Parts: sequence; structure tokens; C-alpha cells
Amino acid sequence: MSAPVLTGPPAELDDLSVWPASTARLPGGNLSVGGVSLTDVAERFDTPAYVLDESEVRARCRTYRAAFPDADVLYAAKAFLSRAMARWIDEEGLGLDACSAGELELAVMAGFPAARIVLHGNAKSPRDIETALRLGVGRIVVDSPSEIARLAAQVGSGGRQKVMVRVVPGVSAGGHEKIRTGTDGQKFGLSLTDGSAQHAIARVLGQPQLELTGLHCHIGSQITDVKPYLVAVRRMVGLMARIKESHGVTFPELDMGGGHGVAYRAGESAMDLTALAHRLNGELSASCAAAGLPVPRLVIEPGRAVAAPAGVAVYRVLAVKPTGSTMFVAVDGGMSDNPRPALYGARYAPRLIGRSATAEPVATTVVGRHCEAGDILAADVLLPGDVRPGDLLAVPVSGAYQLSMASDYNLVGRPPVVAVHDGSARLLVRRETQEDFRRRDIGV
Ligand code: LLP
Repeated sequence: MSAPVLTGPPAELDDLSVWPASTARLPGGNLSVGGVSLTDVAERFDTPAYVLDESEVRARCRTYRAAFPDADVLYAAKAFLSRAMARWIDEEGLGLDACSAGELELAVMAGFPAARIVLHGNAKSPRDIETALRLGVGRIVVDSPSEIARLAAQVGSGGRQKVMVRVVPGVSAGGHEKIRTGTDGQKFGLSLTDGSAQHAIARVLGQPQLELTGLHCHIGSQITDVKPYLVAVRRMVGLMARIKESHGVTFPELDMGGGHGVAYRAGESAMDLTALAHRLNGELSASCAAAGLPVPRLVIEPGRAVAAPAGVAVYRVLAVKPTGSTMFVAVDGGMSDNPRPALYGARYAPRLIGRSATAEPVATTVVGRHCEAGDILAADVLLPGDVRPGDLLAVPVSGAYQLSMASDYNLVGRPPVVAVHDGSARLLVRRETQEDFRRRDIGV
């Protein structure tokens, strides 16, 4: 009997635990996602390309609906939005958290019901507000004192818009300093400790054009621990009790934002959504009972935990350079399609696909093609020692805050998004081209 042919990477490089559930090993070191071979995607749509597994997105929405059956679950569009994404989110019964006229228009154009959209923003432009009012969004979240009178004026006499007030509960959490939004000293929300939240709430209550349905907070992003949410709930309920005392009003809703963390690499922890739901609801009921308040309907706003694990980025290796102690593998994308490593020191686990590798794994730094040394996609990761130009690398957990934060740096052009589902692939967002750049550049 002949020895088995090695078609995949060695065990230490073969962990698929953070990949979409549909991911399968194919012969020749290839993988399929949603029944579609990743090398076929690269062949057909060129690289770099982003693959989005529709079933994974839908399954994640269903997990939320099952874990939080009595809550409103709003998908945070900033993580990734396209017309198809808006449709899937709608069909799965989630609402939408939008933060600009652009996101609002795209979602509503795709058929998303405006009444299930909440508009956020620490600095909403007149156009953002005009668009929200024209489309009829369900809620607008007030984030600063200066927007209250302006918003009321734009609503106009006779009109009435449902709003919430964003509160800073004084709880610090999140995967990186730049994405912690729960404490004073950052730009979002109104402080609970210095009285500005109470003051803004009083002002909103005094505006007949505004109907205050509840309070909002978002303590940060990429949080894997339940406890900061429980502390935040207690503080929010404490504030609701004080508002009841001083104004005699109770609110029907409480929005606890998003921020639920995911694993980017095998072995990392993710937020346990069942535990979060159980303990959040428990804390909310207990705090409200203690304060003599009716339990408000819970609203949550996950972005990353819906989209990130459903996306895979596929790159082609353009250059390989052993330099001193570091092996650099340079690919045809980089910080223009994924700024997260440069911005937050995010760590990813790229994987060689499309050929069997027999070489021993070596420590490699995967870099992009952009003109700066900080354009690093994945530092110090294990890849087969014989990675060479022409190879394909795939990066899982790429569905959130990558393309939505992509840029035109070096005029490389933003990659396409390819949806995969039940063995077929279709283009959702096309690649940005030279023609796009030429069209925008209208002056001489
Ligand atoms: N709600 C509000 C008001 C938010 O500001 C955010 C995210 C979310 C919900 C959704 O949070 P998520 O569940 O996705 O963590 N660009 C950063 C993340 C910034 C998050 C901004 N706000 C990153 O790539 O890690």
C-alpha cells in the first residue's frame, strides 16, 4: 500500500475552528466555503477578493434571535453593509443600526424597513437627519446637547420622532483603547457622572417633537466578558430610576449597544451569547425590580459577531523576501482593504490554500503591497516555509470592519465581495477600477 498523499497542511496549520461552519477541506490543500472552492473564487473574480458566506451570516442572526427572543436585535451596519446584507438581515428579522445618510439610503434602497432602523452618530450632519426623517427611521439616538433643539426643529411642529439618549455609563471594556466607548473622556455619549446625561434627558423630555423611548449605551467593541455589560445595565437602570423620581417617566426600551467579541485565531475566546443573554436579562430584571421600575424591552446592536466570522479574504502572494530574522510574504492587498492590524494591532491567522505544502512551517510576516512599513497584515504567523509568489493566502474572520473601513490608498482599488451559498458564488460588490478613480477626479 502506498503512503497517503499529504493534501493539507500539517496539523498545527490546519485548525478551521474560526472559519465559517460550511468550510470544508478539498484535495490539494484547497478549501471550500459555502460549497465553493476558494481557488475557484480567486480564478473567477481575481484577487484580492472577499468571500461572504450567506449561511453563516443568517445562522449568526438566528443565534441572536434564539438567544434574545424578547429583545430587538439590530445589526450594526458599520461592520459591513451591502444591499444583499441588508436583505439577509431583514429576512432574518433583525433591525439595523446605521450611522450616516449613506448607510440609511443604501439599506432603504435595498428594501430594508426604515421603521426598524436606528440612526446613531456623535456628529450627525443636517443631511443625516434630513435623510432619517424623510425615510422615517424608527429611532434617532441623541449623542450631544447641541443636536436636541436642531433635531426638534427639523422634525417641525406637528411632527414627532422617537429618540433615545446615548449615555456614558462609566464602564471601560473592549479589545483596544480606540474602541472603548463606555467611559468619560471619549467623544461618544453623555456622561452619567457629570450630570450631562440627566440634563440632556430633561431637555429632550421638554421637546414636544421628540418622544424619548429609552436610554442607550455602547461600552466598546470586541468584548468577550459578560461582566462589563452587567455593570453597565445596573448603572443605566440606576439612571432610569433617578429619571422616574425627577420627571415621573419610565422608558419602554433600553439599548445596550453591541461589542460582542469574536475569535480571530484558533484558541481565542469569543463572547458566549447564551450566557450574555441569560445574565443580561437576569440583571435587568433584578435591577428593575429593586428600583421599582417596569422591565424595559432590551435592544442590542451586534455588528462584528454577525459579520466577521462569515467573511474570508483571499490574497495572492506577489513577493517573498527573507530579511534578517524575518520572512516577509507580500500579498496583493493590505492596509487599504484591512486597516485593522495597523489601527488596533489586530492579529489574524492567514492560511496557504490551493496547493499541498510539504515544507516545515516557519515564522512569517504577511505584509501588504502599500507604501509604508506599517502595512502588516499578520506578523509572526506560521506558514509553510516554501510559500512563493503565485500562492494564495486566505484570511478567515474578515467579514467586519475591513471592507467597510477600506480606502483608496495608493489607488489600488477596493476588492470585490463575493457571496457564496449552496455551492454557487455571486458578485455582491464589484472590484473598484481605474475607471472609478478617473470618474471621481474631475478637475485639472
Ligand atoms: N452600536 C454602536 C453605537 C456602535 O458604535 C457599534 C460599533 C456597534 C453597535 C457595533 O459594535 P460591534 O458589535 O461590531 O463590536 N472598527 C473597529 C470597531 C469599531 C466599532 C464601532 N462601533 C474594529 O475594527 O475593531
